[in-house]
Amino acid sequence: MAKAPSQKGSNETVTLTDNATGKTAEFPLLKGRLGPKVIDIRSLYAQTGYFTYDPGYTATGSTESSITYIDGDKGVLLHRGYSIEELAEKSDYMEVCYLLLKGELPNKQQKEEFEHTITHHTMVHEQLTQFFRGFRRDAHPMAIMCGVVGALSAFYHDSTDISDPQQRMVASYRLVAKMPTIAAMAYKFSVGQPFMYPRNDLKYAANFLHMMFGVPCEDYEVNPVLAKAMDRIFILHADHEQNASTSTVRLAGSTGANPFACIAAGIASLWGPAHGGANEAVLAMLGEIGDRKNIKGYLARVKDRKDPTMLMGFGHRVYKNYDPRAKVLQKSCHAVLKELKIKNEPLLDLAMELENIALSDNYFVERKLFPNVDFYSGIILKAMGVPTSMFTVLFALARTVGWIAQWNELIEDTEQKIGRPRQIYTGKGRRKYVPISKRR
Ligand code: SDX
Repeated sequence: MAKAPSQKGSNETVTLTDNATGKTAEFPLLKGRLGPKVIDIRSLYAQTGYFTYDPGYTATGSTESSITYIDGDKGVLLHRGYSIEELAEKSDYMEVCYLLLKGELPNKQQKEEFEHTITHHTMVHEQLTQFFRGFRRDAHPMAIMCGVVGALSAFYHDSTDISDPQQRMVASYRLVAKMPTIAAMAYKFSVGQPFMYPRNDLKYAANFLHMMFGVPCEDYEVNPVLAKAMDRIFILHADHEQNASTSTVRLAGSTGANPFACIAAGIASLWGPAHGGANEAVLAMLGEIGDRKNIKGYLARVKDRKDPTMLMGFGHRVYKNYDPRAKVLQKSCHAVLKELKIKNEPLLDLAMELENIALSDNYFVERKLFPNVDFYSGIILKAMGVPTSMFTVLFALARTVGWIAQWNELIEDTEQKIGRPRQIYTGKGRRKYVPISKRR
């Protein structure tokens, strides 16, 4: 796997002075290929006896990475140097998976071999199908995903030795390949329909649609426009630097846990409404607003600091500009609705009106809050017939390649240590144990 040459050679340093003691400490300044300079504080505690406080890691880089680059001020997203707009328009998800995992776009033969490998790993161990029966029918599919993906490590023992690059690669292929099968099974279980086996004559996204919407008693013809739209949705969600779920995967991976367990941890982290769960929450929000005449009232609640209501699908830790993925998704929305001959989609109209009003409102302008990837994705998925509870599952499916690419990078990084932040202790000081008979 290609890793960008480290730019660490520079002799630039930063000197910090402790105003209390007048002592100074010097720290190297690091520079990646793109992006701002970074202070290497690894020796901070040893040099000064202090460590840093950064809840939410707003100013903390946890790793070097050569996979994805974001310029949040300009709204730029690059995978291995290629812009997301270009990838979404010209590439396909399998190619992007190859790019993320291996560092370069595949040539024709590499692409065919890769697709063949992924296709031939899409079936899951038959015993895994029994596993689903342990869940309640009304279980949220993300709950099922956490359990079933974690359980893969109980089925594929021959790809859990993380010190073996070949086993790591097989685990990576298995995860990318089996995720659509497991996701579709989670859905089928919830609606009480038989599981559909994957079909090797179908491409990745089309195969997923077949497993989601097909039934054994009749042929399901995959609409190529919808398969293309689904493929694009997968591309747009494939990776996003050190987001919460990827950081979770890396943290789990830093302990030496096997890849299936690490990806299950990532799925759990993605589920929250502040992260991947936002696509589901956006639809709930649009449903609650209901009509454009209610937008102003809803935004008033969002802006009220005492009210916990948020504008879901808006705001981002890194983007202080339009999320480039949201732009592509907004366009895709129109294409999908046209294909489905849906002339008026009230939810899309409502979302666009909401966006327009929010983007001209000082609250959002001052805080640089723009639509993120989750704002429009749910509308397309809903139009395609995907139930709301599956939205975050689809995000997880598509993000698996990013998680596994980042996990591989972590395992190969000789500088990585177990992830272990510190804390500011605010509890009681040392005190004597009081026997229960003497406690009041
Ligand atoms: C994803 O990190 C990634 O890369 C994630 C992701 C990926 O591909 O992996 O891009 C996917 O998770 C997208 C984000 C999905 N989440 C949502 O849409 C939920 C709504 N968004 C917010 O919860 C929030 O914007 C976050 C969680 C996305 C980012 O939170 P931050 O960086 O911690 O920002 P913040 O909470 O410090 O907000 C700064 C200010 C605050 O106001 P003040 O206290 O300064 O007055 O902006 C306000 C916030 O209250 N704010 C919002 C808001 N988002 C931020 N106010 C109303 N509605 C919002 N959505």
